[in-house]
Amino acid sequence: MSDHNPEGVLAPLHDESDFSSELEIIGDVPRGLRGSYWRNGPNAAFPPKGKSHLWDGDGMLHAITFDDDGIRYRNRWIDTPGLRAEREHGHALFGGMLEMSPPPPAVAEKIGPVKNAANTSIIRHAGRYLALWEAGLPTVVTSDLGTVGVDDFSGALKGSMTAHPKIDPITNEMLFFGYSPFPPYLRYHIVDDAGKLTRSLEIELPRGVMMHDFAITREHVIFFDSPAAFDFDQLAQGGSMIRWAPEHGTRIGVLPRDGSADDMRWIEIENCYVFHFLNAWTEGNQIVVMGASVDWMAVDYEHQRPPEGVDANSYLYRFTIDLSDFTCKKERIGDLAGEFCKVPDSVTGLKHRYGYLASFSTGVCDGAFFDSITQYDLVKGTETTRPFGTHKVVGEPAFAPNLQGRGKNADQDEDDGWIVTWVHERDGSASEFVVLDAKSIQAEPVLRVKMPRRVPLGFHGNWIAP
Ligand SMILES: [Fe+2]
Repeated sequence: MSDHNPEGVLAPLHDESDFSSELEIIGDVPRGLRGSYWRNGPNAAFPPKGKSHLWDGDGMLHAITFDDDGIRYRNRWIDTPGLRAEREHGHALFGGMLEMSPPPPAVAEKIGPVKNAANTSIIRHAGRYLALWEAGLPTVVTSDLGTVGVDDFSGALKGSMTAHPKIDPITNEMLFFGYSPFPPYLRYHIVDDAGKLTRSLEIELPRGVMMHDFAITREHVIFFDSPAAFDFDQLAQGGSMIRWAPEHGTRIGVLPRDGSADDMRWIEIENCYVFHFLNAWTEGNQIVVMGASVDWMAVDYEHQRPPEGVDANSYLYRFTIDLSDFTCKKERIGDLAGEFCKVPDSVTGLKHRYGYLASFSTGVCDGAFFDSITQYDLVKGTETTRPFGTHKVVGEPAFAPNLQGRGKNADQDEDDGWIVTWVHERDGSASEFVVLDAKSIQAEPVLRVKMPRRVPLGFHGNWIAP
């Protein structure tokens, strides 16, 4: 967080490119690896207007595709209304989350006071690609990364959409929520397998909080109401609009997927914040929720630092909720600090065996600059880590299923595929796309695709089947 653009591995790109023959390919492309890894991330087109936060940058998509013709890479800015206005003016017009200075009145009247940067994640559902930013509506893009525009599900979506919707692999429904600093503080939505928003529910909270992710099972949706509270006084004093407010406590909300607001049950737990959930499932009278949890959190370290003796790193935890008495047991699973946790899309909401995190194998936790990928085997209880070295930074992993494998749902085949991720030189000088065999992640990569120019470290990516 600084008054200028991010540097090094986070520095923005200023080109939109297509590469194929320019890619240096080390290894053989497995015949069962077919599809694309799409990743979104902040990539400011212009130097910021004032104080900037990493989360402010304009969304840029990077897609690397594996098909019978070979490997192709493409990157494009998401052409949001805010970015278009800034291009017309030739400089930044919007403030960021540390300094909410509105754009000129004519721009604010047309676009609003805040830029929807569409920079956080990218998903495909019901044949549509949605670039997501949790404080606004989704932005539809085409399969070749062109921007269609902001979308509200034919007028049905009121409020914002999280960057972490969940797609049920059995029904193909998309479940998601949106939060707001103003009432209603939380809304829950269901989109059917054809892409139609069929249900919205307002859920009462005592105050507006930043809720980044949630979890689903076949039967339930689970919300963590953690004390990352909106604080506009702190913002006015030059800090973040989000304040860690431990006095408010933390609650887990459990709701049947098709329940009404009256069916919501809240369970108080020790304070924690789960930026990202690994997965969840309902098993008899229990719900198991797994995620990367911290005991203390602040989005603006300049103004809030952890209390003495508090470990602000995030680790993988298991929360076991007993539905007979609405209690919760919390256990730490991982030894290594890590984040950006993922399971194969085929097990979302189902009991799974393998989970993956971007982790810190050196024990030196440093923002989001992970240096390894860790695989958790929940059956064996093992934690297996593939380090990339202290001079590398690893992005979010994703699971690419082996399309020539024996079947995606059989227990023994859950790891039949590859773990893919971007790996960057820590100084930002170069990047490569790395493919690891999920059955032996510590082995040398199956494939490395070295880029003719760097790719910035970004936020969330997903594997998109062909
Ligand atoms: Fe996220």
